[in-house]
Amino acid sequence: MTEIVLMSGSIRDGSYNSAVVATLRRLVAERFDGVRTTVVRPAELPFYEEDMDAANGSEAVLRMRNRVAAADALVICTPSYNGAAPGVLKNALDWLSRPYGESCLDGRTVAVTSASPGPRGAVDAQPGLVEVLGHAGALVVEHPPVAVANAGELLTPEGVFEDPDTLAALEGLVRAALAAARQDAPSVAA
Ligand code: FNR
Repeated sequence: MTEIVLMSGSIRDGSYNSAVVATLRRLVAERFDGVRTTVVRPAELPFYEEDMDAANGSEAVLRMRNRVAAADALVICTPSYNGAAPGVLKNALDWLSRPYGESCLDGRTVAVTSASPGPRGAVDAQPGLVEVLGHAGALVVEHPPVAVANAGELLTPEGVFEDPDTLAALEGLVRAALAAARQDAPSVAA
């Protein structure tokens, strides 16, 4: 079974980015045989603090690190807060980037997407996020940016996106992530 971990960079109820995560969950279940998704929540983590990390972090940190370490790929959907990913998402990535030399992000395939109620879909937050992921050793999926614009107009009452363009773009990103993960996987000796 292939495992994709999904993370929203927004912790608010009714978040468009969390709606993208919910859409990805449904889309993968419907269109990808043998692929399972798990959602991890940055809000469950404390503020990063090195002394706490040295003392083994917290249960929530260890749980998230283990989830990501076991995944074939991580897909992150971020809002733009003044042109960057929100602090709560950066905080989660800082936890995942440690312990130094043992980061669960190191060598991990990661795909990035974004959403906003505005016309640019928070695409301006993606480059900075990609840079942070690169610092942590993640292998960021090369793909034309996927950004869900005008999200308020597209969101259904069920809290997911169902319009064909959004679904096709998200499906393309997942396909690219899975292809990259397969390429990056260490080959198994016959
Ligand atoms: C925003 N928002 C925003 N939108 C955008 O397109 N570019 C931006 O630079 C910003 N900056 C920004 C800063 C802060 C502090 C907040 C709270 C909001 C608006 C943002 O896109 C909107 O609130 C989204 O709904 C946030 O994503 P979620 O929570 O719906 O996933």
